[in-house]
Amino acid sequence: EAIEKGGYEHFMLKEINEQPRSIADCMRGRLDAQNGRLVLGGLRDYMNKFQNADRIIITACGTSWHAGLVAEYLFEEFARIPVEVEYASEFRYRNPVISDKDFIIAISQSGETADTLAAIELAKSKGATIFGVCNVVGSSIPRTTHAGSYTHAGPEIGVASTKAFTAQISVLTMMALKLGYKRGTLPENRYMQLLGELETIPSKVEKALKLNDKIKEIAKEYKDARNFLYLGRGYNFPVALEGALKLKEISYIHAEGYPAAEMKHGPIALIDEEMPVVFIATKDSSYEKVVSNIQEVKARKGKIIAVVTEGDTAVKGMADHVIEIPETEEAFVPLIAVVPLQQLSYHIAVMRGCNVDQPRNLAKSVTVE
Ligand code: AGP
Repeated sequence: EAIEKGGYEHFMLKEINEQPRSIADCMRGRLDAQNGRLVLGGLRDYMNKFQNADRIIITACGTSWHAGLVAEYLFEEFARIPVEVEYASEFRYRNPVISDKDFIIAISQSGETADTLAAIELAKSKGATIFGVCNVVGSSIPRTTHAGSYTHAGPEIGVASTKAFTAQISVLTMMALKLGYKRGTLPENRYMQLLGELETIPSKVEKALKLNDKIKEIAKEYKDARNFLYLGRGYNFPVALEGALKLKEISYIHAEGYPAAEMKHGPIALIDEEMPVVFIATKDSSYEKVVSNIQEVKARKGKIIAVVTEGDTAVKGMADHVIEIPETEEAFVPLIAVVPLQQLSYHIAVMRGCNVDQPRNLAKSVTVE
């Protein structure tokens, strides 16, 4: 096992650190920005259906569902097709309205999640086309879907999903860009620009990983907190959900992720000097609004940990801690911003003496409903 961990204390840490490579592996042979090429083999025979779909329905559980939420923003922004993101466990029992004009995307690391499998069977029986985004080659989901793309992240052993999440988002990003280009909703010059930027993500994730020591220091300060709030908007809202889930799973600290603007509709009542609030406040279209949410938390003496874009000065003056990540396109920020949140949950859990790779009550794949 020590050999499998490759010198790391835990699989989770190894997998967090593998992300520059796993994202690059996911894009290898698919993305060639210089020549404007983006090829997803699994899509080839279904591109027509995809392009002409009335609606995209994404179904998944847990972290994979969070990747689906990021994809909702991606598909709607670039391809202008309405998207619904469904918990597989709800979708399968709701008698949902599905037609043969719907394109269903099922996301799963393991490819074995019982609820996701049942959601696929249901959608299939209504005539929809099902596309799988899975990590484990030859697992049940790729065998039951019409087509799909593997994430190629390599084996993920830690129960808390890390590199599978960023690989899922990488596949979904490529799908959204391709679809947008084909549908003409994403102009060629912008498409080329985005492809170029997407290729730089592995090296930017590599840079973000270097924040590890700083994050360890932050973890020391908050390891005994009883609650955490994670806030973000737009593309960073699912990142907030994912940061909170990671902390809950492995450190057993209660954490909630929320869209930052929803804070005033409830969670703001929780804020006092005991409450650490993690903001994902990168320079994007909702930056100014998130900054005013930070001020609201500060006024109530909450402790602020902010993930910001490199060079940010405004948030520095307000936050207790800032974590500066490399700048990228707004749509690609989740791929980088989630990394320090994974590290934060990892260090807090280790400091609390928790079993990071096999947290209590959790299984790597949930094959029962
Ligand atoms: C992630 O950290 C969790 N362990 C869990 O939410 C997981 O993402 C969920 O069970 C879905 O699994 P899947 O991707 O293998 O379908």
